[in-house]
Amino acid sequence: MLLDVRDLHVEFRTRDGVARAVNGVSFGVDAGETLAVLGESGSGKSVTAQAVMGILDTPPGRVTGGEVLFQGRDLLKLKEEERRRVRGAGMAMVFQDALSSLNPVLTVGDQLGEMFTVHRGMSRKDARAKAVELMDQVRIPAARERVRQYPHQFSGGMRQRVMIAMAIALEPALIIADEPTTALDVTVQAQVMDLLAELRREYRMGLVLITHDLGVVADVADRIAVMYAGRVVESAPVDDIYKAPAHPYTRGLLDSVPRLDLKGRELHAIRGLPPSLTDVPRGCAFHPRCPMARDVCRTDVPAPHEVSATRAAACHFWKECLNG
Ligand SMILES: Nc1ncnc2c1ncn2[C@@H]1O[C@H](COP(=O)(O)OP(=O)(O)OP(=O)(O)O)[C@@H](O)[C@H]1O
Ligand code: SF4
Ligand SMILES: [Mg+2]
Repeated sequence: MLLDVRDLHVEFRTRDGVARAVNGVSFGVDAGETLAVLGESGSGKSVTAQAVMGILDTPPGRVTGGEVLFQGRDLLKLKEEERRRVRGAGMAMVFQDALSSLNPVLTVGDQLGEMFTVHRGMSRKDARAKAVELMDQVRIPAARERVRQYPHQFSGGMRQRVMIAMAIALEPALIIADEPTTALDVTVQAQVMDLLAELRREYRMGLVLITHDLGVVADVADRIAVMYAGRVVESAPVDDIYKAPAHPYTRGLLDSVPRLDLKGRELHAIRGLPPSLTDVPRGCAFHPRCPMARDVCRTDVPAPHEVSATRAAACHFWKECLNG
């Protein structure tokens, strides 16, 4: 397995107390596989990604437990310098907001080229040629001219392509994309998703795709991990989840997106709001919002139950949910 995250815990010390943003998260990604991480705002998706990448804001954040095995090595045990080497060459990240992630005073060509001068010791001239090549690869038109332009001279979609070009520059084994298309309009979203999917195939990269949009997931992901209140509540191959969710929260998410194959069916948003992570409900964190909740749910935290060899759900009543 390329990336194997085991029982990861991350806490934030805030004025309101300790926020358990990531509370025992486990998931794996194989080479060439796309894992979608899905969940409402505040469920701990970005914090999980930051902990895996080693770019968590510390303090206030702190990894308090678990392992992040990347190509067999626990990244949490590496020195900062070794981790920096893994970032870029081993794994790279694409963020939602390209404008604030790119340097406004450097040309796009200089920023792309820096990947090669700094990490590969190339000459500026060779690095510039590589920058143009990369821009071609992510299909930025007129790359040879645009390599001299600044980030603000690019549209949102084109900037996101620049970000992707930066991420793939050193041909990493894994890319983590945190809401890579959220700031873009729908057509451009689809184009950027297609590009990511294509590059993943071409380079046989693992891809972790963080999103709260179930709509984009069906087409591109192999597996889904659904997060709620800092935990993975269901993890399964995409098709299994679409056929029949084994967790009421997953069911709620599915019911709240329009689906072409279920035209005419009523849409239900999940009632209520996710909990504050400084004050997660006892028992199953989802119980105040769960239509299937019973007494045991208010007292006992459900362990991840094995639904099949490739699937797990953290619900006391997963069988009922699956058959319902
Ligand atoms: N810098 C921070 N300081 C304090 N708490 C934080 C900080 N960053 C994250 N948290 C805590 O971690 C929780 C999870 O945040 P995270 O950004 O991972 O959510 P998310 O699932 O990515 O949500 P979204 O879909 O809105 O991006 C937050 O609700 C908050 O309690
Ligand atoms: S454990 Fe109970 S409250 Fe939690 S999701 Fe399952 S049925 Fe709902
Ligand atoms: Mg986020």
